[in-house]
Amino acid sequence: MGKNGRNYFRNTLLALARLDKPFIIRGRYFANPHLDYLTYTDIRPYVPAGASTNMICNHVNVMLPDLSKYIAVRPVMTSKVIDMSKEFIQAQERTNPVFMTAKTAICLMAKAELPGAEAIVSALGLENSEPLREMSDEETILGNALVVEAKYRTMCRLIEDTGFKTCVDLPCGYTPKAIHMTGRGLRFVGLDLPIVIEEVRPVMRSLGEYAERMSFGGVDATNYASLEKALQGVEGPLCITTEGMMMYFTEDEVENVIANIGRLLTKHGGCWITPDPEFLLQFVSTFRSVFGENSLGKLMLAGKTAKAQSDVANLSNSFILKPADIPGSLEKAETLLTRHRMKAEKINLGEVMPDLNIYKRLTPEQVQRFKESMQSCHYWFITLDSTKQEREEDDLAGQKQFEMQYSVESGIMQLCLVGRLDSISSPELLMAWEAEQTANTIDGIRIDCSGLEYISSAGIRLLQELQAECPQGIGFNKVCPAVKVILKQNGFTI
Ligand SMILES: C[S@@+](CC[C@H](N)C(=O)[O-])C[C@H]1O[C@@H](n2cnc3c(N)ncnc32)[C@H](O)[C@@H]1O
Repeated sequence: MGKNGRNYFRNTLLALARLDKPFIIRGRYFANPHLDYLTYTDIRPYVPAGASTNMICNHVNVMLPDLSKYIAVRPVMTSKVIDMSKEFIQAQERTNPVFMTAKTAICLMAKAELPGAEAIVSALGLENSEPLREMSDEETILGNALVVEAKYRTMCRLIEDTGFKTCVDLPCGYTPKAIHMTGRGLRFVGLDLPIVIEEVRPVMRSLGEYAERMSFGGVDATNYASLEKALQGVEGPLCITTEGMMMYFTEDEVENVIANIGRLLTKHGGCWITPDPEFLLQFVSTFRSVFGENSLGKLMLAGKTAKAQSDVANLSNSFILKPADIPGSLEKAETLLTRHRMKAEKINLGEVMPDLNIYKRLTPEQVQRFKESMQSCHYWFITLDSTKQEREEDDLAGQKQFEMQYSVESGIMQLCLVGRLDSISSPELLMAWEAEQTANTIDGIRIDCSGLEYISSAGIRLLQELQAECPQGIGFNKVCPAVKVILKQNGFTI
């Protein structure tokens, strides 16, 4: 490479480094804590106009030793090279099993013959409908497909009705919404756990006609910095949509996620539409109207599958209405929104639901009963409540980035954690643990928590796993009050 080529190359890498963007280095990550990945399109704005594809490709094909000739490689965990190998994918799967529920959803969408769903299923290699294996009986699959189709089609209609030009789907899972919305002229931003985004981004970009209107970001919805980063450069009011996520959160996670969505609305303007608070009512009403007295067993099977796939015991929190106590749980959910200075308008599902493909597999009586029963379910259209005190934009300067340092002395792993242990950072800790465990015998772990700000359920799942593997267990030092509560709630002794 000549002198000019080297300078141009160095300047591009520096521009990317300033953005804290990761690089792909011959199939490996040079990672930042958000574990997003870089594509040619991401690089294009930082190279001179008219640069050939070959010149751009050179940037993603640099090897690590070469990279360090051009920019300083910080020797901390957050900028180390992480092998995008099977182990890394497995670490994400183990800490975030909930992403499997999105595979079930796309298989159900294919059963409902939603446009694009079949192609996505085959691009993901799910033609055998493996995620639906637990739903052995065809009627249970039919009932679930009915719920999923009603939700997907109604949400697409509601998004368009808002007139906002940007749909932020949190979580996007593997649904064809990116293809559908960009085909209708909207910009689509798909946000989900990094493991989902790695799979879904290339699939949507190859299947959609308007890939330039799509962007995707690996996030943890409880982690505001990851959301803000994924929305960098996105202008104008947002229509944020949340289908099938809120029920998987613990109380403190749901509180965090609602606060984060409030922050995004404060910053960008727009609205948040979600069917999640009434998801149980929609399930119960659908199954009862279609299968009558036989519905209980099928419903329980559907619930069991979701719990097993997500490793979440309850599928409930203060944001979710309980069929056995609708007024009490409604009040709780509304109070939660008020606490975050938001308000919900309830949209009657029976009034806005379009006609569904699945009707052709039901009798006219079943369709009639189903439509009537949807009159008692609502999707929530949530906005900031302007009657409440004005919100200030958050200053995130005080939030610490995840960092981890460790050493092993006399069989004890001394670990220092900074920032948040959540869906994004937990796989990194799991991989470090596994590497150390292979090299040493580890009897116990001592964690310096003085810089640790938060632990989500992905972090708790991992700590419980590590605790079970160490004869001397885990000791925690210098724990802040918020983290202490979370650890104690999950059975750890401080
Ligand atoms: C039942 S799927 C729904 C996906 C999609 N909206 C749909 O309708 O098919 C649940 C999704 O929530 C995502 N998810 C769970 N916890 C999350 C978190 N903390 N941050 C971001 N996404 C999360 C999972 O990865 C999964 O894609």
